Amino acid sequence: MTEQATLIKQINELRQALELHNHRYYVLDDPAISDAEYDSLFRELQRLESEHPEFASPDSPTQRVGAKALSEFPPVSHRIPMLSLNNAFTEAEVTAFDRRIRETLEIEIVEYACEPKFDGLAVTLTYENGRFAQGATRGDGYNGEDVTANLRTMQTIPLRVPTSHALFEVRGEVLMLKRDFQKLNEKQQARGDKIFVNPRNAAAGSLRQLDPKFTAERRLTFFAYGVGAVEGTALPEKHAEQMEYLRQQGFKVSSEVRVVEGVSGLLGYYSDLGNQRAQLPYEIDGVVYKVNHVEQQARLGFVSRAPRFAVAHKFAAEEAVTTLLDIEVQVGRTGTLTPVARLAPVFVGGVTVTNATLHNEDEVRRKDARIGDTVAVRRAGDVIPEVVRVFPDLRPANAREFVMPTHCPVCGSAVIRLEDEAAARCTGGLYCPAQRKQALLHFAQRRAMDIDGLGEKLVDQLVENQIVHTPADLYKLGIAAFAELERMADKSAGNLVAAIEKSKRTTLQRFIYALGIRNVGEATAKDVALHFGNLDALMSADEIHLMETHDVGPVVAASIAQFFSEPHNREVIEQLRAAGVTWPEGEGKKRVAGHLAGKTFVLTGTLPTLSRDEAKQQIEAAGGKASGSVSKKTDYVVAGSDPGSKYDKAVELGITILDEAGLLELLKGKENDENN
Ligand code: IVH
Repeated sequence: MTEQATLIKQINELRQALELHNHRYYVLDDPAISDAEYDSLFRELQRLESEHPEFASPDSPTQRVGAKALSEFPPVSHRIPMLSLNNAFTEAEVTAFDRRIRETLEIEIVEYACEPKFDGLAVTLTYENGRFAQGATRGDGYNGEDVTANLRTMQTIPLRVPTSHALFEVRGEVLMLKRDFQKLNEKQQARGDKIFVNPRNAAAGSLRQLDPKFTAERRLTFFAYGVGAVEGTALPEKHAEQMEYLRQQGFKVSSEVRVVEGVSGLLGYYSDLGNQRAQLPYEIDGVVYKVNHVEQQARLGFVSRAPRFAVAHKFAAEEAVTTLLDIEVQVGRTGTLTPVARLAPVFVGGVTVTNATLHNEDEVRRKDARIGDTVAVRRAGDVIPEVVRVFPDLRPANAREFVMPTHCPVCGSAVIRLEDEAAARCTGGLYCPAQRKQALLHFAQRRAMDIDGLGEKLVDQLVENQIVHTPADLYKLGIAAFAELERMADKSAGNLVAAIEKSKRTTLQRFIYALGIRNVGEATAKDVALHFGNLDALMSADEIHLMETHDVGPVVAASIAQFFSEPHNREVIEQLRAAGVTWPEGEGKKRVAGHLAGKTFVLTGTLPTLSRDEAKQQIEAAGGKASGSVSKKTDYVVAGSDPGSKYDKAVELGITILDEAGLLELLKGKENDENN
């Protein structure tokens, strides 16, 4: 083989390997290699491509965020229109849908494919000879916008597919998973940026970023639900089989696709999925029924803009209209002043709602919500109800505007609003009883320490009567202390003490979340718990090390470091531990407790006795991290015989270089450390 042929082969192999691992990670949720290994493959490919620009290719995994920012999205006309679906809201409408189909097809029983109705944005992806060539939004159904560069950044969109149809159009939905939405909003909040109302809006905003760099930062997911124009190899004859085919081509397809028969099958699916709705990783607003046989679909055809062979059976509306009686200000755990709408009671999303959030002052202005207005309220899943919009036409003459107070309504401290933040804050800190109460409620909540029975009424009394100042105080109280409080009988006081006792056995993740560190929600608590594996490592980490955690940026890192630098917080943590709060050590997958916690190692060359995996295992067992590439963050490079370029890099950066003996010495250091 010529040198050039070897190089091309190497580049192609790297590209294939990276696409395979992308697919395993993002589509199958089943990664086969570590992030570090992935990174080193990625960097190797980047290096080869930059040294040999003649072999660059737009469908290389390195080019997902390659394109330049646009000034606008060029129009695209769809080969096959992207139609809408007719809606059904009642069982009678579903029954009528099925009857029309049976009559037209002259058959007794119809076979349907059922699937979720994703609440995202429809897009169409065009593959030419197996390569992703263009992606567009639905637009008006006939003409959409070319968002290829942005779609290319999404790891769930394959850049190549195994079957080389001359033309292959895949249709589906771009959405943001609930988990990614939650993380995005945590980040937005930390930066004082706009909070997205729901995953759909967040996905829409992210897809329509003119600079693909910004789309890449937002985690979007593509689910395929159909095909458009196809030329070349024929597709299977049933919709559900086509979905399976799409899965084989590397696309993410909902695992909730089912084949059923007749109306009873449809309604059974509707109620099953309705029950699972809250547990699904994405938002849905109903289900879609499609006649399964493609040939039958063709016979049924279309009426105006929607197919006769499919219908969307929507879940009950989760919005309701009511009157905004007042806007009050609530002081949160970190002092944030949130305007809260007091509403005339209204039934929405399965519960009666009397309060809804208005997020912050800017939101009140943007929605132009005034006291006395008629408003639409939404309750999505188990999130806090919110005011969606107002009806200015129905505004009474005496409607009043909301004014943010200049002093905390609870403790009277000054209220400040930093220039780059959306939130106004009470400056009282833990002097402010509202903040103290919220800190305790947060600590006790189910997802944190899970102290059953420690509700708002009790916390109010405990704080107002100065019985409890910090969470640690809870563990000092006996039955007698609680029994003296209002509405507490001996029995409930006993239950509460038992619940507090039980809460002592927790997990690191819950404990970190319970501390109420600003900008650290559940997801972030989990990430840092996994990353550091033990509390001491986390408490002693500086901002640089904190930022090595997946999804932790400078703002969150600063919050965490700031929290642990506060002697008062360290004291409370010590008291909690002294009271017997514990969790299984070494919970972290990536790192466990150990004297090498926070240290990063890079291995290069062949070691005399240890295999690379053994060395890696031992480093990780001691709490260290084995990384694939040398950077300024690397603490040690362990070099064996025939070391690679990593060795040179380590020399260049002045990083400590160890041989195997040196590594073993360091690994043994444990006893010494503990005796110190
Ligand atoms: S099929 C010809 N399947 O619903 C039928 N659409 O009102 C084409 N949608 O804009 C659509 N989930 O974005 C289909 N499983 C699903 C869907 C789905 C969500 C959206 C789609 C479209 C709208 C149609």
